[in-house]
Amino acid sequence: MATDFTEETATAAVVESFEKTPDPRLREILGSLTRHLHDFVRDIEPTTQEWEQAIAFLTATGQTCDATRQEFILLSDVLGVSMLVETIAQRKAARKAATDSTVLGPFHVVDSPPRELGDSIDLLGTGEPCVVTGRVVSVDGMPLPGALVDVWQCNEDGFYDVQQPDLQPLGNGRGLFTTDAEGAFLFRTIVPSYYPIPTDGPVGDLLAASERHPYRPAHIHFIAGAEGHTPVTTHIFVAGSPYLESDAVFAVKKSLVEEFSVVHDPARAAAYGVANPFRLANFDIVLQSS
Ligand code: BEZ
Ligand code: FE
Repeated sequence: MATDFTEETATAAVVESFEKTPDPRLREILGSLTRHLHDFVRDIEPTTQEWEQAIAFLTATGQTCDATRQEFILLSDVLGVSMLVETIAQRKAARKAATDSTVLGPFHVVDSPPRELGDSIDLLGTGEPCVVTGRVVSVDGMPLPGALVDVWQCNEDGFYDVQQPDLQPLGNGRGLFTTDAEGAFLFRTIVPSYYPIPTDGPVGDLLAASERHPYRPAHIHFIAGAEGHTPVTTHIFVAGSPYLESDAVFAVKKSLVEEFSVVHDPARAAAYGVANPFRLANFDIVLQSS
């Protein structure tokens, strides 16, 4: 005779149903998921109508995703889960001496076009000119030539290329660079703006219902990797930007806030191939050996 499914037997019954899962890690994950999900339900005791609302919310989240829109990443971001996963991964990899990581975000949805050092990632020329320099090094300070530095950012109005296909060519604000013999990289761009994460989907509804603002401080995304080293997914944040203290996705780390200094120097501007005055930021990226 089968045992009745009761509040008392529910969790053990479901955990046990997963016990023959051959992959031990998957078995552990399914058991833990079951226990935490059941605890959550016991905690909030949702009505059937509330549970249907939750299912409708997750369904809408999935239906909002397409080739260039990733609402599930956004959901994970505003719940602080993306940052928690990153922070745990950094601790486990003992990457203390390496550059801090932060969230990937939902806009790394197209490949960055390979570009030459010194190229501009800004294809429109409407924002405040900016030069970003840096070096990729290992934790012992050795330069890493041939490292890949993938960068992407929004424009001066706070939009990524994929959000404005009629106004921005695909690849605007993006570039894949290879460091030189000294591990150095340099690219031209414009100063990115702070911006609201997309609010026209279920995640926006969630923020509105909880009276949370949707803004992120101005930043440039980086993924840097080199042979024999653990890649890092990170940002640099523009010092002085609004929302550094209240990022909607909890992704600011002090070590990643960089000065974007104003440079008035016609000769340097000409050497970099930008208008004078311009902004200059430096970001040295330290990678842990793998
Ligand atoms: C981003 O920086 O591109 C981003 C990160 C998390 C949520 C939305 C956008
Ligand atoms: Fe971003």
